[in-house]
Amino acid sequence: MTLAIQDPPDEPILSVRDLAVAYKTGAGKTVEAVRGVDFDLYPDQSLALVGESGCGKTTLGLGLLRLLPRLGSVPRGTVTYRGRDGSTVDVLALKKRELRDWRWREAAMVFQGAMNSFNPVLRVIDQMADTIKAHPDGERKPSKKEIWERSAELLRAVRLEPNRVLPSYPHELSGGMKQRVLIAMSLLLDPKLLILDEPTTALDILTQRAIVDVLHELRAERKFAMVFISHDLAIAAELADRVATMYAGKIIETGTARDIFYGPRHPYTVGLIKAVPPVVGDLPELASIPGAPPSLANLPEGCKFAPRCPYVQDACLTGDPELDTIEERPRGTAHTAACIRWQDVKYERKVVERV
Ligand SMILES: Nc1ncnc2c1ncn2[C@@H]1O[C@H](COP(=O)(O)OP(=O)(O)OP(=O)(O)O)[C@@H](O)[C@H]1O
Ligand code: SF4
Ligand SMILES: [Mg+2]
Repeated sequence: MTLAIQDPPDEPILSVRDLAVAYKTGAGKTVEAVRGVDFDLYPDQSLALVGESGCGKTTLGLGLLRLLPRLGSVPRGTVTYRGRDGSTVDVLALKKRELRDWRWREAAMVFQGAMNSFNPVLRVIDQMADTIKAHPDGERKPSKKEIWERSAELLRAVRLEPNRVLPSYPHELSGGMKQRVLIAMSLLLDPKLLILDEPTTALDILTQRAIVDVLHELRAERKFAMVFISHDLAIAAELADRVATMYAGKIIETGTARDIFYGPRHPYTVGLIKAVPPVVGDLPELASIPGAPPSLANLPEGCKFAPRCPYVQDACLTGDPELDTIEERPRGTAHTAACIRWQDVKYERKVVERV
């Protein structure tokens, strides 16, 4: 008798529904920096969150892993994580200790600007050892040799030379090396969900390229789902198969990388894309988006993009548009846009086939 080997059910590793994140701003007031976000992420997918500074990308990433600063809170929403054994975790309900175990082992984050926040007096091996020791696998403590070997394996995976890097202090490493060490550290406990917040910002273009290549390789080898936060659309296009554009704390367009870069339907996404020069071909006229994002403490009525939108009509000024489906597709890859005029918004970037 032969036993049929069943594929594991194809279900999202992360399901987010109506997630909101608020910050206390003084005098008992709060503002919502994330105002109701929904998405599903499947285990083999990478999702880029893009948008202007202050649109809530970092806040959403921190909210997903419950890493918000003291003045931040989650007034509503759910975050459901599906573990490798098929069990589901209600992330917002985890107790402190459960949360500590869940983070790093299942989900990890590389923070924005973390390159500059290494402990300057600890060698890389000591910083990696601290992470491993803080999350023991059962009762047994790992030996020094095991810690070295595990750390070395991860450093090799991010294309660093362990014997050179592990005994180094942070100031002895370049920015690109530090960023790779951070990525290696985030993978020490083999998480299945990795959130990276602007991992290439502040690096020169060749070093950015190297980080992008490393992330491609790591995902192919280690098979983790990824949320990649960036305001650099070119990098997002390279690294993510799905993209979500954020504006004033909401996802206002989502789709495959091709939908967003070659056929965006929200005027804000169109504005973002028009502001990016192409790498090849003629240089089209580049345009910035007039005006600035609204203050979270004083959001306009109706569509939050209306004061800057070239398509605005009276109907836009009442009711905040919800995401409307432009093209239905399975596994969270539908193309959607939160604009009542998406059918009128046409922008087609020439597709340049790579040879
Ligand atoms: N600790 C905090 N306390 C109060 N408000 C905050 C705090 N952190 C962020 N905010 C506000 O929340 C909003 C979203 O900020 P966030 O850092 O998430 O944006 P971002 O999209 O990551 O921007 P950037 O591209 O500059 O990193 C901003 O208006 C910001 O001022
Ligand atoms: S709903 Fe109206 S104001 Fe908002 S993006 Fe669409 S056209 Fe512009
Ligand atoms: Mg940020």
